[in-house]
Amino acid sequence: MKRLAILLSGRGSNFEAIADSIKRGRLPARIEVVVSNLASAPGLDKARRRGLKTLVIPSRGVPREDYDRSLVYELKRHRVDLVCLAGFMRILGPLFVRAFPNRILNIHPSLLPAFPGLNSQRQALEYGVQFSGCTVHLVDEGVDSGPILLQAAVPVLESDDEESLAARILAEEHRLYPQAIGMLVRGEVRLEGRRVVRRF
Ligand code: GRF
Repeated sequence: MKRLAILLSGRGSNFEAIADSIKRGRLPARIEVVVSNLASAPGLDKARRRGLKTLVIPSRGVPREDYDRSLVYELKRHRVDLVCLAGFMRILGPLFVRAFPNRILNIHPSLLPAFPGLNSQRQALEYGVQFSGCTVHLVDEGVDSGPILLQAAVPVLESDDEESLAARILAEEHRLYPQAIGMLVRGEVRLEGRRVVRRF
């Protein structure tokens, strides 16, 4: 059984989708620890209510390398196999990425490589694309630039504002993230360069 860490800074709806998928027996993994850089993250309460171990590692004013080092220390101590970023609002540096090579996943609310970084839904609306969506990818040393595991598209409607588009994308995120984690923990995929291909 693979051991997951979830890193979050906010409401934690993707964390809940992952935890639900495990509970329903659809994902052969266990959540070892839920970590946040913010003590006030609502996702932490949701994790506690599910009886999961939580950890706050405050990031405010902490230099990136020092922060990465504390995070690596804690995750290694919990013998974590896979790190799932789920709305974790702190960029991780090379020290962290190299400690878990191809073992860190992120979910991003756009069809990468379009609209990386913050406010992707607003970027999509302002650009005028007719489709957007979400991407689950492996984390490399860039921002939202690692190999793509899964993507899902949704239409952008004329009547959309940031909120309605974000909600449509979020529904897909909750379906996609557990599915992508499943592909990794079952060993169904391998990397060819930056392409993720099926083993069987
Ligand atoms: C999601 O939109 C995700 O794509 C982005 O941050 C948001 C997290 O939402 N990385 P939640 O905390 O999982 O509800």
